Amino acid sequence: MCGIVGYVGDKKAQDFLVSGLKRLEYRGYDSAGIATVSEDGEPTLIRAKGKIAELEKKLAKAKRDDHVGIGHTRWATHGEPSEVNAHPHQAGDIYVVHNGIIENYKELKKELGGHEFKSETDSEVLAALIDSFYGGGKYDLADAVVQALKLVKGTYGIAVVSRKNPEELVVARSGSPLVIGVGNDETLIASDASALVGHTKRAIYLNDGEVAKVKKNSIEIRTLDAEPVSAKVEEIETNLSAIQKGGYEHFLLKEIMEQPESLAETLRGRVDAVDGTVRLGGPGLKEAELRKIRHLIIVGCGTAYHAGMLASYYIEQFTPEITVETVIASEYRYRQAYIPENSVALIVSQSGETADTLACLREIKKQGVKTIGIVNAIGSTIAREVDGGTYVHVGPEISVASTKAFTSQVIAMVMFGLTIAQAKGVKNTILQPYVKEIAKLPEEIGKVLEEVKKPMEKIAKKYASYEHAIYLGRDTAYPTAMEGALKLKEISYVDANAYAFGELKHGPLALVDDRFFEVALLPMGVLYDKAVSNVQEVLARGGHMIVVTNARDFDLPVEHVVKIKSELTIFAPILMNLVMQLLAYYVTVAKGLNVDQPRNLAKSVTVE
Ligand code: F6R
Repeated sequence: MCGIVGYVGDKKAQDFLVSGLKRLEYRGYDSAGIATVSEDGEPTLIRAKGKIAELEKKLAKAKRDDHVGIGHTRWATHGEPSEVNAHPHQAGDIYVVHNGIIENYKELKKELGGHEFKSETDSEVLAALIDSFYGGGKYDLADAVVQALKLVKGTYGIAVVSRKNPEELVVARSGSPLVIGVGNDETLIASDASALVGHTKRAIYLNDGEVAKVKKNSIEIRTLDAEPVSAKVEEIETNLSAIQKGGYEHFLLKEIMEQPESLAETLRGRVDAVDGTVRLGGPGLKEAELRKIRHLIIVGCGTAYHAGMLASYYIEQFTPEITVETVIASEYRYRQAYIPENSVALIVSQSGETADTLACLREIKKQGVKTIGIVNAIGSTIAREVDGGTYVHVGPEISVASTKAFTSQVIAMVMFGLTIAQAKGVKNTILQPYVKEIAKLPEEIGKVLEEVKKPMEKIAKKYASYEHAIYLGRDTAYPTAMEGALKLKEISYVDANAYAFGELKHGPLALVDDRFFEVALLPMGVLYDKAVSNVQEVLARGGHMIVVTNARDFDLPVEHVVKIKSELTIFAPILMNLVMQLLAYYVTVAKGLNVDQPRNLAKSVTVE
């Protein structure tokens, strides 16, 4: 959601803070600000409503050579997007940037009677609280931060700077990520390692409940209970080209077109197409443990939830004696659900930081159930807290709408299902067709993207004026339709909803009129003829239909047929999803909207 950066070192802090904020802008983008302090303790606070570009305009008139500072890009939770609600927040001598939510901020505010609050934010309360323990510089800043955090309920990733000590920053985390970049004569702070790329390859990922005193050549970490922590320095794998547009107009198009390579990365070393087997080391389950599994719970939000749903249809097809339940994390965390014996939970998250998904992971672990992460962001909180896991390795996904992660999440989960099936002794003749198609999928994705890109641009222009859309599918095409509708609505603001074809007559058919267009997914298979009848029912009511199918003989008079020419049948829905990703992209471009940063949304939802 929000983004944090910090700098202490020999260079000009403003330069890193601004470039870091630009990298993090995709996470939240309604206001931004930075605070720096000069060597003799002169602070400069500059904030602006809107995008980083607005902040840059102000900074152009207020260039500073200060060597220490913090910055923030905000996605509003408490208080509207405005300059006064933007971070950093100041109290006395200190400046604070905060990601997360302080749940007891109202009670704390009452107790901090003497402070004159300027903003409506919970974060300013945190600043005032730290200041109250700081005694105007009489006490150690890190001690003051610890005392304040001990009174706080909620989640935070924070960075604090004081005008009384312009050689250090104090950072802390609980539930909101923070990474410390170790440089030469400089230390950099960010809420996401992508802000550090190009500056250093060495990073320390702070754990929940840890506080660090950070200077240009030293990093001292301890827990809130004053236990020293020895820092583990890890390598940042991301490179610069992975976080740049690379000639594409938008990150979203780049990420859609990248799917042949990103899926190949997911499969690397894990698929043996010759003998038709898969090998996943990460989950760390022994053969005997895999054989015992009777129940899978798949947990995720949004696109990750849809990926789980689609994977569940596949896993049930080839894994005997197993039930698969896919749940929405924000619901499941508060349900009193009974988890049967011999269950394993798959925790699906691109960012690895989604608050609801993380909360489910913790609840499920409490019940003694094994948890396996299907995560993209390396070193993220979910990746570190699961018992085992499979990274999808799709590289950074910068555009808010998730595309390449979905494809790889589905396949990673199917491969986990295949691993169970192999252990349970399911015949190779049953599993081999799945493995063979998985191995071919990256290449087929490349072919389909090439073939449908241009036609979809043309088709999308025609539908850009519609305000409503219905997505339809059955069996594996149903969760795929759900994902297609989500993609369209989140970036183009078209009111798009998905239905299982069979549900149409139970209500949604009443909607069909000239205000709507319909996208129907028709993979060949046992339910194909039934789906064709459903298409006819919509056509008979004047529907404006786009049909996406791999059937050669589809010949109903719909407005557009997008034919998927591929020998793959099992995973045809994954190929159809590419068509829907492009449809959403081009409708949004035709409407002139912000493709990569849709209104009201943020990339990584670290608050509940
Ligand atoms: C939609 C989208 C979101 C995310 C959801 C979960 O395009 O990106 O629905 O899928 O917020 O995020 P992760 O996967 O990071 O847990």
